[in-house]
Amino acid sequence: MKVVHTIEELRDQLRGQLRVAFVPTMGNLHAAHLSLMHLARQHGDPVVASIFVNRLQFAPNEDFDQYPRTLAEDVEKLEAARDVYVLFAPDERELYPEPQNFRIQPAEALGKILEGEFRPDFFMGVSTVVLKLFSCVQPSVAVFGKKDYQQLMVVRAMCRQFQLPVEIIAHETVRDADGLALSSRNRYLNPQERAEAPQLYRLLQHVRDEIRAGRGVDDLEAEGMQTLKKRGWVPDYVAVRRQRDLGSPSTDEVAAGEPLVVLAAARLGRTRLIDNLEFQRG
Ligand code: PAF
Repeated sequence: MKVVHTIEELRDQLRGQLRVAFVPTMGNLHAAHLSLMHLARQHGDPVVASIFVNRLQFAPNEDFDQYPRTLAEDVEKLEAARDVYVLFAPDERELYPEPQNFRIQPAEALGKILEGEFRPDFFMGVSTVVLKLFSCVQPSVAVFGKKDYQQLMVVRAMCRQFQLPVEIIAHETVRDADGLALSSRNRYLNPQERAEAPQLYRLLQHVRDEIRAGRGVDDLEAEGMQTLKKRGWVPDYVAVRRQRDLGSPSTDEVAAGEPLVVLAAARLGRTRLIDNLEFQRG
C-alpha cells in the first residue's frame, strides 16, 4: 500500500485508472471501516482510502481536538487487510490551503433535521469535504456505512444534484456481538457505559417490533426518549422516518408497508452515540 500526503502524489499514483473505488474516513480504523474497504474492492480497482479529520464538520463545542488520530496503527491495519492500494492522508494545509469559503449547503429538508438539528453545520462540513475528496480522488464508486444513515442520504443527494459521476454504495452497519454499532467514538466509553451502550440498539429493535405489532409512531418515539432518560442517557432524538426522504410517515403509510427507518442519537456520559434500523411494518 502506498501512503501519500499530497494531492499531487495521489494523482501520480492514480493516473490512467478508470474505476477507482474510494472509502473516505476520519481514521482510527476499526473492523467496520475495513469491511467498507473490502466491499469497495468488489466494486472497483484500485481501492483508495482517505484519512482526514475534517474540522469543518465539527462544531466548536465538539470533539475535534480529542478525536483519536492513530495513523501508524491505521496503516498497519490496512496493510494487513490488503484491500487498499493507496491511502491518502492529507494534512489540513493540503486540503484547506486557504479558508474554505465556498461550501456545499444541503437542502434544509434533509440537512437541518435529525442530526442537522443538533449539529447545524455538520452536513455542510461533510458535503464540502466529500466533494473536495471526490475531486482529489476522482472515484467511480464510493462506499459509505449505513450507521451514518443521514450522511449517506446527504452524499447521495449531493451526487445526484451535481451529477457527479460517482456511484454511492452503502454498507450495512457492523455491530459488536452485543449489538453496539462499531464507531470510533466507542473508545470514549468507560466499562460501565460500554455495558449500557447496546441498549440503544435494543431500543431501536423494540420500536420496530412494536410498530409491527400495530402501535403508533408518536407514542413509541416519546416512550423511547423516556426509556433512554430513565437509563441515564441524554437523548437528542428517537425518530421513525421514511427511508426515501427521512420525512415523517403518515399512519396510512406505516400501515401500507412504507420502508421505514428508526434513528436515534443520545449521549451516554460524554459520548454521543447514533444508530438506526431499517424495517417495514408489512
Ligand atoms: O463518516 C465519516 O467518517 C466522515 O463524516 C467522512 C464521510 C469521512 C467525511 O469527513
